[in-house]
Amino acid sequence: MLRTKIAGIGMYVPEQVVSNDDLKKYMDTNDAWIQERTGIKERRYAKRTGETTTTMGVEAAKKAMERAGTTAQDIDFIIFATLSPDYYFPGCGVLVQRALKMKEIGALDVRNQCSGFIYALSVGDQFIKSGMYKNILVIGSEKHSFGLDFSTRGRNVSVIFGDGAGAVVLQPAENDKQGILSTHLHSDGESAELLAMYNPGTHANYWTEKQLADFDDAEIANMFMSHNMIDNAQNFPFMDGPSVFKKAVVKMPEVIMEALAANQLTPADINMLIPHQANLRISQFVQNQLGLRDDQVHNNIQQYGNTTAASIPIALCEAWEKGKIKEGDLVCLASFGSGFTWGSALLRW
Ligand code: ACO
Repeated sequence: MLRTKIAGIGMYVPEQVVSNDDLKKYMDTNDAWIQERTGIKERRYAKRTGETTTTMGVEAAKKAMERAGTTAQDIDFIIFATLSPDYYFPGCGVLVQRALKMKEIGALDVRNQCSGFIYALSVGDQFIKSGMYKNILVIGSEKHSFGLDFSTRGRNVSVIFGDGAGAVVLQPAENDKQGILSTHLHSDGESAELLAMYNPGTHANYWTEKQLADFDDAEIANMFMSHNMIDNAQNFPFMDGPSVFKKAVVKMPEVIMEALAANQLTPADINMLIPHQANLRISQFVQNQLGLRDDQVHNNIQQYGNTTAASIPIALCEAWEKGKIKEGDLVCLASFGSGFTWGSALLRW
């Protein structure tokens, strides 16, 4: 059976390190609260101009392509996962195609937030397995620092997120013992509004029917992004933290067990678990649930915060660069996030 392997991996994080104490200049917070609740010590923020979700993704991609021994011209397809795109549309995939002067290949953007990388990897896996493409570039990248509420009002969310990018090049594996063994994707839209950025959007939930009755279509069109929304912080992410926590600690172990069962494996077989870096407390809970030792799990949220679609490829790349993942190792990726969506991927390195 044709399998997909990760032929090269790369990451990029911006130079600017922002400590918990640095955030005190914007909001009423403190290092002890942030570390105790999330495990985060610092995060990176991109340059205000000239450094975007796309440019960071491109830097990670260059590393991944170099390590895979490919050039931008070899890539057949781009898959870009992000919730913080350079533009509302078009997506970042085409901007990568332009930046790397690639052929006129397909470029797909994936909007599955914290699960974005696993969803993107799964899509790429199917294209490789079907024989359609030979070299796929999968990128997860986020520039959160440009879209957070830095006032005290938004502190429960803003302190968590950081900027960065990770990328992989997918290719057909040489043999069926190596590569992605399976991917498992799930969603439950019932809780869509519990971790979300509502505006700009077309839902108009912010307005009552009665209020809308006073406006004509042209005025309603302007409400896509209005002063009122901005005044009410409707353009910032909202998170019901405790609900996210409760669901994540159930669904992440569940989807990891699903992947293991599908391959007749057990938690003891995992050499390295890379959980989405949502919150160190969630990762530790998942680790305990599965009975994994510390050397079976890699966390780096302490240094980078939560980088959403980039968190898994960044952590995977870092673990590999540190020599924590070797050829033949069983690697498990697992995510949970906005949607809610969750997923896992099991691969033989
Ligand atoms: N600094 C200091 N105090 C704060 C901060 C802050 N940054 N944020 C909130 N507080 C205060 C609140 O004002 C509140 O004070 P009060 O009791 O006097 O009113 C108190 O701390 C508790 O606030 P909550 O908003 O209820 O915070 P909670 O204790 O739930 O912790 C947290 C927030 C850490 C996010 C928690 O809900 C959690 O662990 N959630 C899991 C979800 C998660 O981590 N998501 C990450 C992103 S989503 C993803 O990737 C899946």
